[in-house]
Amino acid sequence: MKKILTILATVLLSLCLCVGLAACGGDSTVTPSGDVLVVYFSASGNTEKIANYIAEITGGTTFEIEPVVPYTSADLRWTDSNSRVVKEHNDPNRNVELTTTQVENWDSYETVFIGYPIWWQEASWVVDNFVKDNDFTGKTVIPFCTSSSSGLGKSGKLLAQMAGTGDWKDGKRFSSSASKSDVEEWIVLE
Ligand SMILES: Cc1cc2nc3c(=O)[nH]c(=O)nc-3n(C[C@H](O)[C@H](O)[C@H](O)COP(=O)(O)O)c2cc1C
Repeated sequence: MKKILTILATVLLSLCLCVGLAACGGDSTVTPSGDVLVVYFSASGNTEKIANYIAEITGGTTFEIEPVVPYTSADLRWTDSNSRVVKEHNDPNRNVELTTTQVENWDSYETVFIGYPIWWQEASWVVDNFVKDNDFTGKTVIPFCTSSSSGLGKSGKLLAQMAGTGDWKDGKRFSSSASKSDVEEWIVLE
């Protein structure tokens, strides 16, 4: 009897652990469907590297979000109170103009990955105008980010709210130095 109870308790504990992990996205994977678009902004190349891995793995097409005025390394100095990023961060009306927000054959993509660096625990605001300008209706949208240490946090959820359309998934954070195998572990092809 004692043995049966121990087995039952172990099974129950394992089940709880699995449900818990799934709830916090602990070991989740994604399976893209249809044609895949990988949209990204990258100021210093880390997010671009992950975007290219995703495109290689899925056979997808990349689209880079490009500010009209690119960020120099001086612009990106978050410790300098006079730098462009600090000024933009402190400006509630910031509005980074992009070279374009229109993607060729937008309607043909069923899955859209959207990637960005984390800036002050949030998605870099450079992606905002892309998200606001596009209609994600009927698309599965999968956020991803790179950061030194912060998690994805609410960044994906906030972008989903900003978009107002699309089926936004939880997404994933990669470290700035993540490898292709890290991305391969995340994406499970149909
Ligand atoms: C303005 C700025 C703010 C940042 N804020 C954070 C942060 O809050 N948390 C973190 O872990 N990393 C932060 N980082 C580091 C970047 O998220 C990280 O280096 C990222 O991989 C850069 O991606 P990229 O090369 O595609 O631009 C920040 C970097 C910059 C330039």
